[in-house]
Amino acid sequence: MKNNQNPSTISLFKLLNAQLHLSNLLSLILFFVFGLCFGVILTPRLKTISFNLKFTQFSLSTTAAAAVTSDFVAPSQAALPPVELGLKSYLTPPELMHDMTDGELIWRASMVPKVGDYPFKRTPKVAFMFLTRGPVVLSPLWERFFKGYDGLFTIYVHSSDSSANVTVPEDSVFFGRRIPSKDVGWGKVNMIEAERRLLANALLDFSNQRFVLLSEACIPLFNFSTVYSYLINSKHNFVESYDQEGPVGRGRYSPKMGPVVDIEEWRKGSQWFEMDRDLAIQVIADKVYFSVFHDFCGGQCYADEHYLPTFVTKIFREMNANRTLTFVDWAKGGPHPTRYMGDDVTEEFLKKLRNDRSCEYNGKKDQICHLFARKFASHSLERLLRIAPKLMQFNL
Ligand SMILES: *[C@@H]1O[C@H](CO)[C@@H](O)[C@H](O)[C@H]1NC(C)=O
Ligand SMILES: *[C@@H]1O[C@H](CO)[C@@H](O)[C@H](O)[C@H]1NC(C)=O
Ligand SMILES: *[C@@H]1O[C@H](CO)[C@@H](O)[C@H](O)[C@H]1NC(C)=O
Repeated sequence: MKNNQNPSTISLFKLLNAQLHLSNLLSLILFFVFGLCFGVILTPRLKTISFNLKFTQFSLSTTAAAAVTSDFVAPSQAALPPVELGLKSYLTPPELMHDMTDGELIWRASMVPKVGDYPFKRTPKVAFMFLTRGPVVLSPLWERFFKGYDGLFTIYVHSSDSSANVTVPEDSVFFGRRIPSKDVGWGKVNMIEAERRLLANALLDFSNQRFVLLSEACIPLFNFSTVYSYLINSKHNFVESYDQEGPVGRGRYSPKMGPVVDIEEWRKGSQWFEMDRDLAIQVIADKVYFSVFHDFCGGQCYADEHYLPTFVTKIFREMNANRTLTFVDWAKGGPHPTRYMGDDVTEEFLKKLRNDRSCEYNGKKDQICHLFARKFASHSLERLLRIAPKLMQFNL
């Protein structure tokens, strides 16, 4: 039957069908274009209407101050608390037991603000840096010394013997003050590395202004208020530096150190220094002089007695008092100074150390020459505790 259908009727039907389709399509397109135009014209107006609606609701529900904010501030944003800019967290020194390598630590600690004034209230502190083998054996005396002066000092302990586990009670000012430490050999260059490590860790606290290096055999000779004001008000650094002829002076110089260090520039001095923040940053940042000492001042050279005196005299001589504030007695000769035992500690002896001669301070004669003294054996602690706090008028 299908094959019998007239072909002309079929084609006419097809034509009609196609025309119908075409008009359908045209009307669809027209409708779409019209809808698009309508949408384009109307959408911004609708948005404004809805925003104004929201804004009106928002200003109604908040104070007049919030209502004057720009039309473009989304209400949800304006409701958030102000962004924490982070100066407070930037000023908070990191945990002492951090995971920085020496290189990372020194890089971070050597950052200097270009702006001289601090945009916050800064109370300068004195950093007391203890370079020890094991624990700070005279710490009970220092505890008495620091008592009542929180906020004016910080303590750092580099204890080279990491196996000697320092059990410090939680209420002690020494608790948790040990920095990541490494082995130190007597008279070796790694002693200077330990000093730089102490300085760098202490520099991370922006409030530290003065830096004192002490050993476990050091004691204070005056009370905290005297020590603090002496250090904070000083115009000079205290890095002992002198030129000495003979085998234990210029004799330790090696011509290989030239031309960075000439023999005339070679200096000697006690390793126990006291310096300000500017010099401390220069010391940790130094690579030129340190690498010369590292390479050519080993063994019998004793880098710790020559590096800082030579470096500071060559570059920062005018700011240096050229003397140390830590008393030590070399009168007996030999490689080690006199060590004071329990019986040596008397009131007369300590008085003598406090008042032995007159020194210059900020360009004027002053009674105080030394703020600290060494070397005191751990046996002397008991007598020191009995005599020193009263004699030195500690804050009791
Ligand atoms: C050392 O002290 C720490 C806590 O300060 C403790 O966790 C650790 O077990 C101690 N190590 C030894 C060998 O006593
Ligand atoms: C600290 O010692 C000095 C003497 O060196 C004394 O004049 C001063 O009163 C003492 N300070 C305190 C707070 O006891
Ligand atoms: C310290 O010694 C250097 C020279 O070695 C000198 O220029 C400087 O003025 C001395 N400092 C003081 C305070 O006298």
